[in-house]
Amino acid sequence: MEIGIIGAGMVGRAIGKLAVASGHSVMLSNSRGPQTLFSLSRSIACQVGTADEAAAFGDLVVIAIPLAAYRSIPVETLAGKLVIDTNNYYVERDGNIPELDEGETTTSEMLARHLPRSRIVKAFNAIIMDDLENGGRLPGSSKRRGLPLAGDNSADKAVVAGLYDQFGFDPVDAGLLAEGWRLERGRSVYCVPMDAEHLKDELEKTIR
Ligand SMILES: NC(=O)c1ccc[n+]([C@@H]2O[C@H](COP(=O)([O-])OP(=O)(O)OC[C@H]3O[C@@H](n4cnc5c(N)ncnc54)[C@H](OP(=O)(O)O)[C@@H]3O)[C@@H](O)[C@H]2O)c1
Repeated sequence: MEIGIIGAGMVGRAIGKLAVASGHSVMLSNSRGPQTLFSLSRSIACQVGTADEAAAFGDLVVIAIPLAAYRSIPVETLAGKLVIDTNNYYVERDGNIPELDEGETTTSEMLARHLPRSRIVKAFNAIIMDDLENGGRLPGSSKRRGLPLAGDNSADKAVVAGLYDQFGFDPVDAGLLAEGWRLERGRSVYCVPMDAEHLKDELEKTIR
């Protein structure tokens, strides 16, 4: 697959590295421009570009920037594309977002409103990147961790589940995009290692 990544920090780098190791082609981008990613492109063996170029490059595009910047994500270029939302809400970084504070929406539904013609899957948000990079295990391993995802389209979720599997994790479907609150910051599954069975139970038990 060709994977565009908007954001080249902890999340963009970790997913980029694992995707290249799994045989995908990757283009990373940030807000300052590809010239600031010169060394990174050598170390990860990926292409670099502007955010718009990464959006155009990917069959699948990963959003890995601080939540507060989501309105800068290119809308037209991402029309019709599968987009992974890795975002989490941290007031101390993103400022107060009243509709999230009130539990009226989710981070992924905000992104979906901004990208009305893209297909959004929430994934990779509930694991710290050190664990993503180093915690993958072979299928069937008793130590293999489950990771949650949410989205409205089964075929899109299957693509993202395939990435989890390639990276060494068991995918667990948390339901529709509107159910994404179940894996947001502060929930019992957030960045807590557990196997797929335990994760499924916790996602179901979580109360909003
Ligand atoms: N760190 C984790 O372990 C982790 C795990 C799961 C989810 N998350 C979530 O994933 C998101 C990204 O986190 P992170 O830890 O990767 O952040 P980070 O290390 O601070 O990196 C953010 C990246 O986004 C880029 N960026 C910022 N504004 C941009 C814009 N408008 N357009 C394009 N690129 C932009 C920055 O590039 P410039 O420096 O050029 O601005 C930087 O490369 C956050 O919502 C975070 O909560 C983090």
